[in-house]
Amino acid sequence: MTDQTAPLIDPFQRAISYLRVSVTDRCDFRCVYCMSENMTFLPKKELLTLEELDRMCSTFVRMGVEKLRITGGEPLVRREILTFFQNMSRHLDSGALKELTLTTNGSQLEKFAQPLFDAGVRRINVSLDTLDEKKFADITRWGRLPQVMRGIDAAQKAGLRIKINAVALKGFNEDELFTMAEWCAARDMDLTFIEVMPMGDIGNENRLGQYWKLSDLRETLAEQYTLVDLAERTGGPARYVRLEETGQKIGFITPLTHNFCESCNRVRLTCTGELYMCLGQEDMADLRAPLRDFPTDDRALENAIRAAIALKPKGHDFDYSRQTVEGQVSRHMSHTGG
Ligand code: GTP
Ligand code: 5AD
Ligand code: SF4
Repeated sequence: MTDQTAPLIDPFQRAISYLRVSVTDRCDFRCVYCMSENMTFLPKKELLTLEELDRMCSTFVRMGVEKLRITGGEPLVRREILTFFQNMSRHLDSGALKELTLTTNGSQLEKFAQPLFDAGVRRINVSLDTLDEKKFADITRWGRLPQVMRGIDAAQKAGLRIKINAVALKGFNEDELFTMAEWCAARDMDLTFIEVMPMGDIGNENRLGQYWKLSDLRETLAEQYTLVDLAERTGGPARYVRLEETGQKIGFITPLTHNFCESCNRVRLTCTGELYMCLGQEDMADLRAPLRDFPTDDRALENAIRAAIALKPKGHDFDYSRQTVEGQVSRHMSHTGG
């Protein structure tokens, strides 16, 4: 008999306390580095219902997960998603969950910011790669910047703390490094840059051509600011610096130039109930079958979760250092939500 109350520890002695949940594979944007223009989405019947998602997440919380991040696709395009947040807030009230949060493209925030705050969300990550309207329309294909700006305004008005996530893209937002940093500082928002990862087929776009190393970005930033490394963590992979001149915090997510897998504390659940133990590997475990086969008994689900965690790989194999793309995974980022 396994001890049902033992914490989730993987083979590399990493405690799993962070669950990312992709509640839909759909999105109202088509970012060029994330999706191809013509995507085939899952039929609705494949999706876990909101009740099933609740049972899944609640089981993880009972097993020691303290941080829940809702992702997508775009999580706020899933119907009735607010009810799910409202239901999850009971785990904040009980103290079992320390943070309930989401990563969003911002398009629906105008409507959802206040109710999300009311459900106990305090901090959100908004993906935004440029402040230029034309470039924004180009990179998201379907997105419009003013709508996202109204969403960000609404979120700040509701009292949500915001971290802007920007994928660092060569020749695309290199020239906006200082503009973006200043804009975030002026609005008291944190800013994190992400190295582009080889995930999914994106049509004609070329990963190596897109790749802007964060070590280079950091050097450019250091031409105008004094960077002070911070020990502070937010539970994710970002490493932070403070700009001495403005006090602003900037994060770097560097899967390519500095692998952070040794401190990985997370697994990710897809909207169909697959558990991916690593963003950069193909292995996954099906949790939907044990969930559906035993509608009133969670033991099979708990055992399946423990068995999956016991197979968590050491890390990803993404590598561009030989001028080729290595370690590519076949699924798109929107499948597992980052
Ligand atoms: P906080 O630290 O709570 O702000 O969040 P986070 O950085 O964990 O979440 P966020 O959704 O902002 O993640 C930003 C991006 O970091 C994701 O979309 C991924 O691109 C990347 N990322 C997150 N977790 C991993 C991981 O385990 N491995 C890799 N390679 N990248 C990750
Ligand atoms: N590499 C890095 N980040 C990506 N994102 C989407 N696709 C990629 C990729 N291939 C980012 C989005 C968003 C987060 C969920 O993942 O911009 O910030
Ligand atoms: Fe949608 Fe986010 Fe992918 Fe852009 S990066 S297409 S906003 S899921």
